[in-house]
Amino acid sequence: MVNKITVVGAGNVGATTAQRLAEKELARTVVMVDVMEGIPQGKGLDQWQSAPIEGFDSRIVGTNGYDETHDSDIIVITAGIARKPGMSRDDLLNTNAGIVKQVSEQIRETSPNAILIVVSNPLDVMSYVAMKVTGFPRERVLGMAGVLDTARYRSFLAEALDVSVRDIQAMVLGGHGDTMVPLISYTSVSGIPITQLMPLAKLNAIVERTRTGGAEIVKHLKTGSAYYAPSAAAVQMCEAIVRDQKRILPCAAWLEGEYGMSDLFLGVPCKLGRRGLKAIIEVELTREEQDALAKSADAVREPMAAVKL
Ligand SMILES: NC(=O)c1ccc[n+]([C@@H]2O[C@H](COP(=O)([O-])OP(=O)(O)OC[C@H]3O[C@@H](n4cnc5c(N)ncnc54)[C@H](O)[C@@H]3O)[C@@H](O)[C@H]2O)c1
Repeated sequence: MVNKITVVGAGNVGATTAQRLAEKELARTVVMVDVMEGIPQGKGLDQWQSAPIEGFDSRIVGTNGYDETHDSDIIVITAGIARKPGMSRDDLLNTNAGIVKQVSEQIRETSPNAILIVVSNPLDVMSYVAMKVTGFPRERVLGMAGVLDTARYRSFLAEALDVSVRDIQAMVLGGHGDTMVPLISYTSVSGIPITQLMPLAKLNAIVERTRTGGAEIVKHLKTGSAYYAPSAAAVQMCEAIVRDQKRILPCAAWLEGEYGMSDLFLGVPCKLGRRGLKAIIEVELTREEQDALAKSADAVREPMAAVKL
């Protein structure tokens, strides 16, 4: 375990992330920060009181300031507003950019060596804001989207094939939006190419459902967006870092020539270990996948250019 992990934002994603981090004992202390007075304190106390039942020794602390967050090893940024029905992730751009900027300024002063995992949407642009404002190297700024999008894809495939989710290997790349790129050529079930197990039309329907997986949940919830799977995804990234697992997970990373692209965050296969991003893995893509990834990059660049820092 590490000494301290801070979760900024004690809303749906943030509080669930804090609880999961503590239950896995990934840090001695899990700090939850939010601007809402009383919310992080109350939730933190409630969560800490689950420790004797769940049997974890991680301490959870809720606060409105950054004193308790000093020298965090990892910081998960979930602060911001979430989508409501009819909203795209890009609709959150200016509000969340202001919030992530303010949070990043605090982090720069109080935890200059932290590894950041950005969750706030629009994810790829908010990761850029966090990196730009903190001035942290790309090894220490990662966006969470691909792990979630891949989990959605895997869960739909497992359901359709009536097999264990554990046996579905897959990877969803690109930006965290409708242009995301589920890689059919790298999707398999215990090593068996997915195309041998499912007709293409059915597979394409699942790919489409994955692309709109977030909106499907927003439509049901009406007042907010998904948080159980998103928090699980953020915690999987934390775990890979804390335990130096060297896992290869799809994460939003700052590209410097990989996949022929530079100067943007985009979902690519990343090796995660104790210091954060250890490597970006470049896999061969079909012509179609390359085109889809380029289109996805364009969809990230547009709001990135519009954001004011
Ligand atoms: N990357 C992904 O895959 C993914 C998945 C789910 C949600 N999200 C995004 O995560 C964000 C949080 O979602 P949620 O469902 O938890 O929303 P939420 O409304 O439940 O929680 C957001 C919290 O942020 C707090 N906040 C606002 N400004 C703050 C500041 N300056 N400092 C600290 N806290 C602040 C709010 O008070 C609130 O408690 C949203 O932007 C959402 O779109 C991303």
